[in-house]
Amino acid sequence: MKPRLVSGIQPTGKLHIGNYVGALKNFVALQDSGKYDCFFFIADLHSMTEEFDPKEKSKQIEDVAFSYLAAGLDPKKSTIFLQSDIPEHTELAWILNTITPFGELRRMTQFKDKSESRPENINVGLFAYPVLMAADIILYDAKAVPVGEDQLQHTELTRTLARKFNARFGKTFEEPRPLLADVPRLMSLDDPLKKMSKSRPGGCLFLDDSPEEIREKIKRAVTDSGKNIICDPVNKPAVSNLLLLYSSISGISIGDLEKRYEEKGYAEFKSDLAETVVAALLPFQKKKRALKKSAVIAALVAGGKRAEKIAKEKMKEIRRKTGVCQ
Ligand code: TRP
Repeated sequence: MKPRLVSGIQPTGKLHIGNYVGALKNFVALQDSGKYDCFFFIADLHSMTEEFDPKEKSKQIEDVAFSYLAAGLDPKKSTIFLQSDIPEHTELAWILNTITPFGELRRMTQFKDKSESRPENINVGLFAYPVLMAADIILYDAKAVPVGEDQLQHTELTRTLARKFNARFGKTFEEPRPLLADVPRLMSLDDPLKKMSKSRPGGCLFLDDSPEEIREKIKRAVTDSGKNIICDPVNKPAVSNLLLLYSSISGISIGDLEKRYEEKGYAEFKSDLAETVVAALLPFQKKKRALKKSAVIAALVAGGKRAEKIAKEKMKEIRRKTGVCQ
């Protein structure tokens, strides 16, 4: 049996190029490597910890589902499902809550960052977010969890909780290992000191942007003083960011790009970069437009059935081990 792999993306808004090079592309590569029994889900319950409009939420969920398939996730090869379709995630999360030290959650940097940046909505869900994430993973006995660096603390907590549960109730869970994805930290095109994010749409390349929008945003991207196209994040944060974007899309190393543009100006560099991004997104965009909603729903239903079967069996074992609700 292949080792199981679990990961998910939160449906919080339009996906951008950072989600593509950081998560989607990597998910497809892991699926196609044939080395894992891959489970990819849409973390809709996690996304509720952010402010949201109920009318928008179902569209955002649908958009991630379409994007999964358009990027190349294949329901014949991977189990693709919606987190909220499997109530065992929340049931297990509750049980894990009861063995999670308050102090450990309080130390989570994501929680601290988010509570500082939006003090008006520090909800308990945001606090307990890593516990639900642990449940997502260990419910399926996952051995591998592809994540970016920002999620390492959460996967570490997942291992701690698995170990703690096993020690208390007998061996039940695997201790999953994070598969650190090489997630480039892309910065905003209009301000290279801020992270690229949907909250700064002018500096963010969305996966659904038209070629014209992509060309326009890259043309307008700020640059640094001096003409040289070299990677120097401290003195040339804007150009360094464009080089990082170029490299992560094309697979060409930053060093080779620097050589290629040694004698050339920003205009040519930007225009080549824009065409590279347009060409890279084109197959994704075409596939996404051609996808039928019925096919996407069918994929989620099939994935949900497979996930449900495993989750139900595991939950039975958990109940038996804890002596609760048999
Ligand atoms: N917290 C992850 C993120 O924001 C999303 C996520 C939720 C996840 N549950 C997960 C990732 C389980 C991996 C495994 O990126």
